Amino acid sequence: MVCVLAAAMQAAAQAPAPDSPAIEAHAQALLAKLTLEEKIELIGGVDGMYTNSVPSIDLPRFKMSDGPEGVRTWGPTTAWPGGAALAATFDPELARKIGEGLGRDARARNVNFLLGPGVNIARSPLAGRNFEYFSEDPYLAATMTVPWIEGVQSQGVIATVKHYALNDQEYNRHNVSVEVDERTMREIYLPAFEAAVTKAHVDAVMNSYNLINGEHATQNEFLNLKVLKGDWGFKGILMSDWDATYDTVGAANYGLDLEMPSPRFMNVKALTAAVKDGSVKESTIDDKVMRLFRTALRYGFLDRPQFDPADATYSVADRATALEGARESVTLLKNDGGFLPLKAERVKTIAVIGPNAYPAITGGGGSSEASAFEPVSILTGIANAAGPGVSVLYSRGLPDMNELFRNTHWEGPVEAAAYPNKDFSGTPKTTREKNLANMGPRGWEPEGDASRSVRYTASYKAGKAGTYLIVAATGGWDSDPYTISVDGKQIPFPPHAESQPPQSAALELTAGQTIKVVVEYWPRTAALRFGLGIAPEADLISDDAKKMAAAADVAVVAVGFGPPTESEGLDRTFTLPWGQDALIEAVAAANPHTIVTLNGGGGMDTRRWLDKVPALLHTYYPGQEGGTAIGEVLFGQRNPEGKLPVSFDRSWDENPSAKYYYPIAGADTKLHVIEPGHKAVDYVIPHVKYGDGLLVGYRYWTTTGKHPLYPFGFGLSYTTFSFSKLRVPAAAASGSTVAVSFDVKNTGSVAGAEVAQLYVSDPSATVTRPERELKGFEKVRLAPGETKHVTLSLDARAFSYWSESGHKWAIDPGKFVILVGDSSENTPLHGDLTLK
Ligand code: BGC
Repeated sequence: MVCVLAAAMQAAAQAPAPDSPAIEAHAQALLAKLTLEEKIELIGGVDGMYTNSVPSIDLPRFKMSDGPEGVRTWGPTTAWPGGAALAATFDPELARKIGEGLGRDARARNVNFLLGPGVNIARSPLAGRNFEYFSEDPYLAATMTVPWIEGVQSQGVIATVKHYALNDQEYNRHNVSVEVDERTMREIYLPAFEAAVTKAHVDAVMNSYNLINGEHATQNEFLNLKVLKGDWGFKGILMSDWDATYDTVGAANYGLDLEMPSPRFMNVKALTAAVKDGSVKESTIDDKVMRLFRTALRYGFLDRPQFDPADATYSVADRATALEGARESVTLLKNDGGFLPLKAERVKTIAVIGPNAYPAITGGGGSSEASAFEPVSILTGIANAAGPGVSVLYSRGLPDMNELFRNTHWEGPVEAAAYPNKDFSGTPKTTREKNLANMGPRGWEPEGDASRSVRYTASYKAGKAGTYLIVAATGGWDSDPYTISVDGKQIPFPPHAESQPPQSAALELTAGQTIKVVVEYWPRTAALRFGLGIAPEADLISDDAKKMAAAADVAVVAVGFGPPTESEGLDRTFTLPWGQDALIEAVAAANPHTIVTLNGGGGMDTRRWLDKVPALLHTYYPGQEGGTAIGEVLFGQRNPEGKLPVSFDRSWDENPSAKYYYPIAGADTKLHVIEPGHKAVDYVIPHVKYGDGLLVGYRYWTTTGKHPLYPFGFGLSYTTFSFSKLRVPAAAASGSTVAVSFDVKNTGSVAGAEVAQLYVSDPSATVTRPERELKGFEKVRLAPGETKHVTLSLDARAFSYWSESGHKWAIDPGKFVILVGDSSENTPLHGDLTLK
């Protein structure tokens, strides 16, 4: 026991060793001892989250854990700011510290592979995992990714950059084929992966679920062999996302090294046969095994225990870093007349209202969900910042969803007709219920009697004229499909595939009007997991909330999304979850001193109430210390410094991806797959055309000269800054590194941080380019009156585009414009540069 502990104590953080002849020889020697069967067993996962072991060569199994918001292997952990929040800090060194913290936590939990970071591009605000990802901008995403990965790997833990590639929507993520040209891929969707491989030397990459130009990621020759392992020289392990593999020979030959979580396709039976008939070479399998061996040896996994008791699972230091992350991410979007910061001496009573005020919402939903030890809610954070002299009033403001379902006053009973088939034929078993509140627990549900269809019929009588909300939800990750019609007209909810968030719609009803509601519901499991409710929108707002708001000096309404409404496996709405718009309006009507805080992976619809509130903060998903950071910012104990990592649109349809988001109608194709056990399955493959091309986010807004509600890179401060003295060389050789410098001054009266952003414009390009692109930034901390001189270097890539004809990065000599400022739209400094 003592010896084991002593050995473990020596296992201090250990960065991976570089490749060496000794490692190569050791890996070759291990390979030589394996039979073909043993080799194949090594390229398929086991027990959900492990690689396989080989007892004959003393090779243990290696453990994996999600990521990226915390080490999610068992029990509570440190819940870090999500990717979007971290990107809003524009602080790569903070990303490194968070990576190191994650790496240490992983070691303490015996984890070898951390399944993060997620670096897909936030193309549309609807995409359910934007909160895990960094940004709409490839340069920002790449710049945050590199130190994050270096931080994790410096602790002797393999980082796994995911989801390679173009998994930019959750809607139908398993089956959708993304149709995209190479230039768009290279310039927008791949640079963060490229930087992860070529700069951070990430040792694992995870393929995405979707297809790219007709081929699943796990067997995509272009992405895996040409780009990842060819152009970028990736030497590590390419694993599948969980159950993202569709073909034995395709996956084996086109780059996949490890099928997770189990070898459905790359298994001993199928691959032995493929080797025998020559469709897969044994050397191809050897290459995959060698990648695992080399990596494991470089990390010392065969020489030291991965568990390191020196790395605490509960770390006070990590809490401090998580707090710093939350502080740096809070983004002040609106602050009319310097309403914030609140003057503590003038606030005697503060009302904290809203479903996101308490308990803390640290992240979105899905595999990244990390449960924190003691997350700080917005309510607690505000109370702490306000101090004992301030009276804090709290109301959720809106009913919990099940409460709404249970309290809906239907006219008579709800009739439930359950048919023993999927198409409502034959004789149903009919029961009568008081209401529709059959919400099962959220999470994985066992497959059960999936052969039923249920029709619910109910009547609802409006007591008074006005707007009513109809709200529906089905439980579980793999939520059930349903349709709802009101008086024979189906409500057009957004399409969904794997899962869907709670849905709602507004109904305008007259006094005494009775409507007939019919739900057709197809449960996927034995449990019926369906809830439905209707209420006048105004009545949803609790009287307490209105009274508290009226009685308080200041009201804070904490709204936005959370795990059930923004998650892996589903796309979210652009409108706030049901009732929240009305809640903000009601609170703002009761108290003009109302501040709104938002949770979400990007922009959302603020149009109903934005001009009624003086202050708005975006907090993304700030992790476990978010409440403290928000309280400090509101009371001016901390100056906000977050900057939007995405453009914040007014409406969903003004987003450049909107008209290309859903699959092209009538263009579905079929994919014939022979599943394990020789079962043939025809998958329907919808095709999504990335018609927005390069014009993602601010590239669209600045190129078209139109403006979103808040531009990429924007965020207010309690102080002001000025930019001056831009120095750009008049000319430089094409391909050389160019230094640009300028001054940033704090022109206000409090200390603060500004993110100086450098954009490059290429007016003389021979191809069409976005009007400007972010190519450098630096966060500058300044005391009042202080000036700092900032120098940024622009390498060849900063001026390049991907040449479709040359199949390489190219620079067109001629004029470039360097723009510097505090957002993608506010760039007061301009300088010309000629590349020769
Ligand atoms: C997710 C991955 C995750 C994996 C393992 C998948 O559903 O897409 O991001 O790492 O599950 O939990």
